[in-house]
Amino acid sequence: MGSSLSCCGSEKVDEGLTPNIGNNSWRIFTYKELHAATNGFCEDNKLGEGGFGSVYWGKTTDGLQIAVKKLKAMNSKAEMEFAVEVEVLGRVRHKNLLGLRGYCVGTDQRLIVYDYMPNLSLLSHLHGQFTREVRLDWKKRMHIAIGSAEGLLYLHHEVTPHIIHRDIKASNVLLDSNFEPLVADFGFAKLIPEGVSHMTTRVKGTLGYLAPEYAMWGKVSESCDVYSFGILLLEIMTGRKPIEKLPGGVKRTITEWAEPLIIKRRFKDLVDPKLRGNFDEKQLEQAINVASHCVHSEPDKRPNMKEVVNLLKGYEPNGKLMDLRIESIKYGEDLLALDQGSEDEGGRDDESDAYGVFGAMEVEKMRDPNVRRGDRGMATYG
Ligand SMILES: Nc1ncnc2c1ncn2[C@@H]1O[C@H](COP(=O)(O)OP(=O)(O)OP(=O)(O)O)[C@@H](O)[C@H]1O
Ligand SMILES: [Mg+2]
Repeated sequence: MGSSLSCCGSEKVDEGLTPNIGNNSWRIFTYKELHAATNGFCEDNKLGEGGFGSVYWGKTTDGLQIAVKKLKAMNSKAEMEFAVEVEVLGRVRHKNLLGLRGYCVGTDQRLIVYDYMPNLSLLSHLHGQFTREVRLDWKKRMHIAIGSAEGLLYLHHEVTPHIIHRDIKASNVLLDSNFEPLVADFGFAKLIPEGVSHMTTRVKGTLGYLAPEYAMWGKVSESCDVYSFGILLLEIMTGRKPIEKLPGGVKRTITEWAEPLIIKRRFKDLVDPKLRGNFDEKQLEQAINVASHCVHSEPDKRPNMKEVVNLLKGYEPNGKLMDLRIESIKYGEDLLALDQGSEDEGGRDDESDAYGVFGAMEVEKMRDPNVRRGDRGMATYG
């Protein structure tokens, strides 16, 4: 597979390299092939748009349904880095991670190919086009929560080098035909050329998941993903958005909403009313308990993903998290003002919004009172 790294030209790449055999194999695609598969990247084939580009549904000549992410323009300096990173991501295999199906490096295009996930994203079920159908019953929700946690556990603890996702959110949890969750876009931030910070991705749907130390001071660690997972877990259980806009324009985070209910142990008022009371009370209590610890303001006090998985599976019924606690974190008004995700009620249906500009520059201007100057790490891989 390493030898393929020198293939960085549109004409040279069509060598049909298949580094792995079987269902997990990836290969290099030609631009022509992907153009044909997606009907010329036709608007009708568009699945959505994220911070890094647009995603199109397609079908290859051998009948495989694919999702093609067409990255925004990349510079030539990033070319080799792109190939190296794709190779690393291509080696990551886990039942709950959306692995690469392939990629294409053209003269001025970069495209990443994934398997198409027929049940789309978790976001489309919680706040998008499938919300009213309520396809996610309690069992599916628990399965999605545990599976996503297992995918993250693998990234944090089992793959070498360890990978910090940095963008855990409902649109990055995709669902296959059996509603098995697959975490997508892991390590993806690393593929972006210098100067294009991931934080320039649309804030929509993202800010509400960011750990405060990351949002405000740019501190990145595995525990940032744990924080985001805690928000995701609350979202799965309650059906509420990470940031909501209240009448009058005030924005409220999901933790601010949940805190008084958790303190009073009013679990039945927390659970998504769309479940119509069909849920397992013990599991709900445990999941809310786990989530509330994941969103601890101090990164060191958050559980790691191994503990999260065990707790969600009920392996540690008397585990260390049994003291139910929560403290909601308020983002600064200046950050909340940049959020656009809570503006429209329909979630991510309207893809035409402008991108939120939540630049790393602005973040870096803020000083972390707990950290000496020059002490700030921004590594993606641990
Ligand atoms: N393999 C896939 N199968 C089905 N839908 C997909 C697939 N990959 C992405 N999508 C959907 O396409 C849309 C755009 O995805 P994309 O990853 O570009 O943006 P995002 O997840 O909203 O934000 P980010 O850029 O931060 O990841 C999302 O709604 C996503 O759920
Ligand atoms: Mg995504």
